Amino acid sequence: MNNFEFKNPTKIIFGKGSIEKLENEIPKDAKVLLLYGGGSIKKNGIYDQVKKALTKVDVTEFGGIPANPEYATLLEALKVIKEKKITYLLAVGGGSVIDGTKFLSAAALFKGDTPWDILTEKIRTEKGMPFGTVLTLPATGSEMNSGAVITRAETKEKLGMGGPGLFPEFSILDPQVVASIPERQLANGLMDSFTHVLEQYMTYPVGALLQDRFAESILQTIIEVAPKVIKDPTDYQAAANFMWSCTMALNGLIQKGVPGDWAVHAMGHELTALFGIDHARTLAVITPSHYKYNFEAKKEKLAQYGERVWNITEGSVDDKAYAAIEKTVDFFHKLGIDTKLSDYTKDYEGTAEEISKRFTDRGWLGLGEHQNLSPDKVEKIVKMAY
Ligand code: NZQ
Ligand code: ZN
Repeated sequence: MNNFEFKNPTKIIFGKGSIEKLENEIPKDAKVLLLYGGGSIKKNGIYDQVKKALTKVDVTEFGGIPANPEYATLLEALKVIKEKKITYLLAVGGGSVIDGTKFLSAAALFKGDTPWDILTEKIRTEKGMPFGTVLTLPATGSEMNSGAVITRAETKEKLGMGGPGLFPEFSILDPQVVASIPERQLANGLMDSFTHVLEQYMTYPVGALLQDRFAESILQTIIEVAPKVIKDPTDYQAAANFMWSCTMALNGLIQKGVPGDWAVHAMGHELTALFGIDHARTLAVITPSHYKYNFEAKKEKLAQYGERVWNITEGSVDDKAYAAIEKTVDFFHKLGIDTKLSDYTKDYEGTAEEISKRFTDRGWLGLGEHQNLSPDKVEKIVKMAY
């Protein structure tokens, strides 16, 4: 097991009816900016619950943060923060609203020239404006981590940022919010959280027995609840297990002491930036070819995953590892998610070369757990995913 340090300061308030507890979490003298997305919260009653819990504080609102939070929109919100002398941010939404809020938390206190530098110069935020979240869509784990991904339509870029100053102070997780989520987004959440576990698990063995079993148990739970959540999102037990699995998949715990991959996400973000494909679906496109291309390096963990998660007991390590990839693709298809780039766009020729060039230009010369996935290899993997 590798050495590690672990600190996660986010307070989780989980359960039925927990949105009303918001009242106790925000300082009474705060000037709050309530941030939300395209308006789903106004249709499903979450907005009303939040407003009710905030009657005693000074609240300004900013809605319209799009999926894949857009830099230009966030700059508008930043203006409001400055004009209204906001002191506290509250994200009410999914990963996009929470990530947008993290960007604003960093940008509000940023001393540099242009806040886009936070992303291009990889500036870590040690201290941001304090913020909390009310999660409306289980998927990203953003509610209990310190990372964010921001999109800039103008340049077709999607870049990550983060730092210890960007953990939410609290996140409210009421599984009842799952009831109003459309099937496409439910499938996305299941897919994204599943891949988050894989990115931190499907590497090579380092003798981290507990981390492996944490990861496997999250995968098994997602597989178990997936059909229930899709069939009936009002099933509270299924929704609660789905929600907590998504949070646990990316709150830092399972990645401690083990190598991480994250190349699937790096390639996937480019597919969102270039074609606007939903984040989770880009992962379904890249994962199978990534595992096939890196089969030798990953086969021990693939076989362990095949045995423990999919009950594949027959055959050699290679057989089990290969069967595990097949099972994974089958699971994605059962979620109703296509796994080839050509399923999403007819305009895919040249994509692999473009992504490879972007990685070269950014100096991303060695991705993955061995830091040896060079742009020419990335090009091959993306091509295999056509
Ligand atoms: O915008 P509104 O109207 O609220 O509608 C949203 C949006 O259209 C809707 N929705 C959310 N909660 C709902 C609901 N509809 C009905 N009922 C509800 N309760 O769902 C749509 C998608 O929302 P979005 O926030 O975009 O989805 P998700 O949570 O999947 O977030 C995706 C973003 O997070 C980033 C992705 O790259 C992408 O930009 N990620 C963030 C990570 C992190 N910070 O740790 C890690 C991930 O790997 C990921 O990269
Ligand atoms: Zn993801």
